[in-house]
Amino acid sequence: MQNKQISEIRNLKDEQDAVILAHSYQPPEIQDIADHVGDSLELSRIAASTESSVIVFCGVKFMAETAHILSPEKTVLLPEPDAGCPLADCIEVPALKSMQELYPDALTVLYVNSPADVKAESYACCTSANALAVVESAPSDEIIFAPDRNLGTFISRQSDKTIHIWNGACRSHAIADLQDMKARMEEWPDAELLVHPETPPAAWELAHAVLGTGGMIRYVGESSVERFIIGTEEGMVYRLRKLYPDRVFTTGGNIYCINMKKITLQKISDSLRELKPVIELDPRTREKAFAAVARMTEVTG
Ligand code: 13P
Repeated sequence: MQNKQISEIRNLKDEQDAVILAHSYQPPEIQDIADHVGDSLELSRIAASTESSVIVFCGVKFMAETAHILSPEKTVLLPEPDAGCPLADCIEVPALKSMQELYPDALTVLYVNSPADVKAESYACCTSANALAVVESAPSDEIIFAPDRNLGTFISRQSDKTIHIWNGACRSHAIADLQDMKARMEEWPDAELLVHPETPPAAWELAHAVLGTGGMIRYVGESSVERFIIGTEEGMVYRLRKLYPDRVFTTGGNIYCINMKKITLQKISDSLRELKPVIELDPRTREKAFAAVARMTEVTG
């Protein structure tokens, strides 16, 4: 059954001139069928530069929206329209505007895990891979950072700027099970614990490094350590095992994102056949959001 679906997807992909992008949190069979697997920043770079006329985005809605913002002339498909992000949904334009009124001299740096209309009201976007660089390059010593409070706190500890942090969080990372991380560390005392900055500060204190998903991949590649405990969404363990078959990985903290698992092979094939559901934004919102996303890409490419 799976083989039939896979060959159907490959045929449809050629017929529709499509490229399949998948985030590292996607289920194994989706990572395997994708043309590119990456972190939020890498996938947006590919979305901006691909020559294919259709982008099938296997991730969550804000990621597909970012692809559309960067490549409006392409058809961007999100095979499961309900693959949302509760972190992105915890911020809305009126509330951000109230915070901006409170701090009129601050520039807003917005994590890409946010809705497009909120991006449109921000100075610049960032991902976990470039948040510090974007904050440091913004021409103000006062910043509003939204919506992830853990990433905001992580950045504020490395910056001399005054950073006003929005009180939002990723439901999966914010409730990381620290007891589970500790138990894994006891089981594997030679292993290193890598955690995502969306986890709470108490997890960073246990960890050997705090990194976005792309940073984790580079860190393992440069390290001589054999075993790693991965404190981010469990899909990342599959990605790392595939990239580094000579190393050993396990999950830490029981971090699972239900929305990242909503995309299936069947939905990809239906989406390619019917060329829907298409991500669309009101052109004015898209243009304003583009300015914020473009400022991010100016800083780190
Ligand atoms: P990365 O930018 O590290 O891929 O993280 C994306 C994300 O949504 C984390 O929850």
